Amino acid sequence: MATRHIISIGDFDRDGIDQLLDHAEQIDNRKYDAGALGGRILAVLFFEPSTRTRMSFESAMARLGGTSLSVGSVDACSMAKGETLADTIRVVSGYADAIVIRHPKEGAARLAAEFSTVPVINAGDGAGQHPSQTLLDLYTIRQSMPIDGIDVALIGDLRYGRTAHSLASALSLYNARLHTISPKGLELPSNLVMDLREKGMEITEHDDIREIIGLVDVLYVTRIQRERFPDSASYFNVATSYRITPELLADAKKHLIVLHPLPRVDEIDPRVDDSPHARYFEQSKNGVPVRMAMLMRVLQ
Ligand code: CP
Repeated sequence: MATRHIISIGDFDRDGIDQLLDHAEQIDNRKYDAGALGGRILAVLFFEPSTRTRMSFESAMARLGGTSLSVGSVDACSMAKGETLADTIRVVSGYADAIVIRHPKEGAARLAAEFSTVPVINAGDGAGQHPSQTLLDLYTIRQSMPIDGIDVALIGDLRYGRTAHSLASALSLYNARLHTISPKGLELPSNLVMDLREKGMEITEHDDIREIIGLVDVLYVTRIQRERFPDSASYFNVATSYRITPELLADAKKHLIVLHPLPRVDEIDPRVDDSPHARYFEQSKNGVPVRMAMLMRVLQ
């Protein structure tokens, strides 16, 4: 059987996503074998900061009876001595049964999969993709409403925001309509927009979230990805160009949910946290059952 890597949300068709989310729901309802991955080892290679993705993969592995191994940081492993990613992966795949990798370079997870003898899961590759985030985003939407045919607003840094790229692609499988709002220069990449439109997705760009706040079912907010900007000045030019507030949400549909992959900086007013629309902390918690389902998919 071919090694079951998860590099892009495009590795799933709609049935594959639905099956995985159904499995995550069973896990959420405590219907799982806590020893299912006993004796299995997950290598956690994170070459960029993370709280949610890293800890929820480690929590998922522990809840299934498995163990995680980590190199700590790039400075603490032999890549600091000049070892290539390819050699690192060749070596690590001899120590573990699966590898979860986050790397600042787009395409790094795909390269890792080429050199790995065990399944590789992409936990974020530069401005590329973040498929496990998308699966938990869809899971969170599905807890509130059927995904089919919904209107989703993506607001923020849609150029560098990998969660937005993966989510937009996945939503095209559910006939969702996309509304994008981003500071100038941080729009969704044109090749992605073209690709999704060719698949029949309706995508509309807007200048201001207020134009459509009363129309959308999901408001997906993203942080400006400061770490991907060439300099501080270009970051500060756009840093405070949007902010979700209770006053804005006063005009929203009653059932609208606000999602954010987190971490947030200033783009969601903390007063929104107590609003019935806020779902971003449940969303991050959903990372555990969804990643448990992912680990079982690649390791069983
Ligand atoms: N959403 C997300 O990827 O968060 P972390 O960077 O904390 O993993």
